[in-house]
Amino acid sequence: MTVVPVRASRSYEVLIGEGLLDELGTRVRAVSRARTAVVIAGENVFPLYGERAEASLEAAGFRVLHHVVPTGEQAKSLAVYGELLHDLSENRLTRSDVLIALGGGVTGDLTGFAAATYQRGIGFVQVPTTLLAAVDSSVGGKTAVNLDTGKNQVGCFYQPLLVLCDPETLKTLPEEEYRCGSAEVIKYGVLGNAAFFEQLRQKPISEQVEQVIRTCVEMKRDVVAEDEFDRGRRQLLNLGHSFGHAVEACSGFTVLHGQAVAIGMAMITRAAAAKGICSAETCDALLDILRAYGLPTQTDYPLEALLRAVYTDKKLDGETMHLIVPEAIGRCRIMPVPIGEIGEWMKLGGAR
Ligand SMILES: NC(=O)c1ccc[n+]([C@@H]2O[C@H](COP(=O)([O-])OP(=O)(O)OC[C@H]3O[C@@H](n4cnc5c(N)ncnc54)[C@H](O)[C@@H]3O)[C@@H](O)[C@H]2O)c1
Ligand SMILES: [Zn+2]
Repeated sequence: MTVVPVRASRSYEVLIGEGLLDELGTRVRAVSRARTAVVIAGENVFPLYGERAEASLEAAGFRVLHHVVPTGEQAKSLAVYGELLHDLSENRLTRSDVLIALGGGVTGDLTGFAAATYQRGIGFVQVPTTLLAAVDSSVGGKTAVNLDTGKNQVGCFYQPLLVLCDPETLKTLPEEEYRCGSAEVIKYGVLGNAAFFEQLRQKPISEQVEQVIRTCVEMKRDVVAEDEFDRGRRQLLNLGHSFGHAVEACSGFTVLHGQAVAIGMAMITRAAAAKGICSAETCDALLDILRAYGLPTQTDYPLEALLRAVYTDKKLDGETMHLIVPEAIGRCRIMPVPIGEIGEWMKLGGAR
């Protein structure tokens, strides 16, 4: 088992290891005096891992309840959030009880936000079951739900008591979701770790998954430690996301997040190469690895539509947008770019 300590406004540990799901109860007991634990999971995930999670919690002496939410992004809605809070209240949960987010980033974001706001804050534990959640969303304390007008429009920073990641659970993940997680993993290599990037080229993520999760969690931890509330360096984690979000929005979210991030990384790196900020070799290396992991590098949405999406993105900061631009594999810079120049960047990135 790997233990990654995280020091943020609350200190906690990320535990990574095969079979850890069966230790959930004792591990939660070590960080919480709760009487009741509520397992929150999506319709897909609950039948796969709900029983094991509940059995382990019961064995550790918790009164265990569960709350199943719809599958997919639609679970991050005010309606589902409201139903969850209502269920907690009906079951008389108190602030000393604990919520367990069992699932991907959707379940983690929803549960985290419910935990942050139910009775002004109840403890919660992240049990990520997607590669994306394991390497990204379960660490760092961002929680949110969506509005009709945009993703993650309502949320707050709220750290978990514990993150427990059992890589065995990733074995049931659909291939496409695995690929999406791979895009975020590759992102870490590009933004700050050339040796890790090389390691991902040499050996598939699935053959070194615990190690990979550890490296990503440590990198995210370090960035977040410097900038928990996302005012500076944490923006580096948005590599590929500015243009990626535009692609996602244009597709009405039929292009999966990880695929969009892959396209976004490819676009920004092409533009960086065209502007002489990185070399053509850097760009080729990125495109090669994305293709090797079965990820797209190009979008057919017209420039106009992409730009419209960018203008409505919340990461817009006044008249400038902060682009994360690769200088080399393992090194990126945060560049404030006037909004009027974004179209040119996208064009150089390959948008038509
Ligand atoms: N909080 C953050 O810092 C942060 C960071 C990145 C992304 N996010 C959010 O995360 C969400 C995306 O997360 P995601 O990619 O994990 O998607 P997800 O939670 O929707 O999971 C993807 C799919 O995989 C299924 N699934 C999950 N685990 C499984 C398993 N072990 N076996 C089989 N199927 C399984 C789910 O039911 C779902 O259909 C987005 O809402 C995004 O905004 C948050
Ligand atoms: Zn992402």
